[in-house]
Amino acid sequence: MTPEQIKENHTKFNLQSWSRQEGINPIAIKSGEGIYFTDYDGKTYTDMSSQLVNLNVGFGCKPIIDAIKEQAEKFCFVGPSYACESRSKLAEMIIKLMPDNMAKVFFTNGGADANENAIKMARMYTGRKKVFSRYRSYHGSTFGAGNLTGEPRRFPLEPGVPGFVKFFDPYIYRDNLPFKTEKECTKFYLRRLREQIIYEGADSIAAIVLETVTGSNGVIIPPDGYLAGVRKLCDEFGIMMICDEVMAGFGRTGKMFAFEHFGVKPDIVSFAKGVTCGYVQLGGVAVSRDIAAYFDKNVLQCGLTYSGHPLACAAGVACLKYYEDSNILENVNKSGKVLGELLEEIKIRHKCVGDVRYIGLFSAVELVKDKGTREPFVPFGKDPEGKMGKIIGKLKAKGFMTYSHENMILICPPLIITPEQLKEELVKLDEVLSDTDSEIP
Ligand SMILES: Cc1ncc(COP(=O)(O)O)c(C=O)c1O
Repeated sequence: MTPEQIKENHTKFNLQSWSRQEGINPIAIKSGEGIYFTDYDGKTYTDMSSQLVNLNVGFGCKPIIDAIKEQAEKFCFVGPSYACESRSKLAEMIIKLMPDNMAKVFFTNGGADANENAIKMARMYTGRKKVFSRYRSYHGSTFGAGNLTGEPRRFPLEPGVPGFVKFFDPYIYRDNLPFKTEKECTKFYLRRLREQIIYEGADSIAAIVLETVTGSNGVIIPPDGYLAGVRKLCDEFGIMMICDEVMAGFGRTGKMFAFEHFGVKPDIVSFAKGVTCGYVQLGGVAVSRDIAAYFDKNVLQCGLTYSGHPLACAAGVACLKYYEDSNILENVNKSGKVLGELLEEIKIRHKCVGDVRYIGLFSAVELVKDKGTREPFVPFGKDPEGKMGKIIGKLKAKGFMTYSHENMILICPPLIITPEQLKEELVKLDEVLSDTDSEIP
């Protein structure tokens, strides 16, 4: 096909996610290498979002490609009830990376169905029905995961599933609470959550689901003591703590799993994205020893034709091995430090930047109309003039590819990016933000 045909067919025959279909103008990608990809006109772009915060090892990671080929030569598929080397190996590798209370993995196709199965298991294990999750969250777009999701991508599913309860996020910047310390804010948020648990009937709640570090809704990092406090509430009321590590897991934050930063052990962990970096799609749910033991005696009412697809598991084994062999966490922390410093400078320099949040190579720039009032650059859930899209377009013209959500620009480059590459790219962001400053009275 010619590049024109590829683009034409894309718009003519594909329905593209989360988009009004009219006017879509995709880049036709010819090739990719490391953090860069190239279109058919020879223009090169830097992948500053790791595609959908999943292509953590960048394009063209040879060991993963070879592992997929090798598995394909043996067999491409065998059903989930057969023992298969890549599946057995990957499950063991994942459990060994997890805290010592975790025991077993149920594999899924991606993040949404990981969350679907996570809440299903929590409901079976506890015998309770209600599920708590937060407003500023994204947990996937299937029916259950979409009902867990708090942000406007939930709206098409409304009125939704009874018993899915939303609570407020510990979003310190936007709440602008009248407290002096983070700890005091944490106390406030936990007190409200405890109250809500009681009002909803504590013994009807199966699980509290949280993105350990909120991702696409703006890299909201839990304040000091918050996750430990949620853990305590879960223990007090017999509620399962489910950490959604779909985006934050597998090195993104500088630790293998984001909950490691906060000293908590969840009961259930959902994961996807970085487990294979999208070389083949895969997700999963890891469960504690207690939950695993429960399913020794009770039927696990979960199943997917492609649970633990051999090709995906082969990619996963190679991917996790690559993380280890390449000391990926060391690079995330080294480059992440530089990213943080550059973002702090950007925050000082630009009047359109209200806040910058970062942990490892997971970051967001929050744009405002006024630094004093913190009024968002675009209203919540709306951008009638397409202002954020224009900023993303200007970045794209400079070869800096990422996406925005609400009034936030996500910057989540592949975990292999070097400090030098980051510096080069952030100059482009700085230039575009200077343009944005000039739009603010
Ligand atoms: C935190 C989180 N959970 C779940 C999902 C859904 O994953 P998937 O798109 O693989 O279904 C996403 C996707 O971005 C996510 O960021």
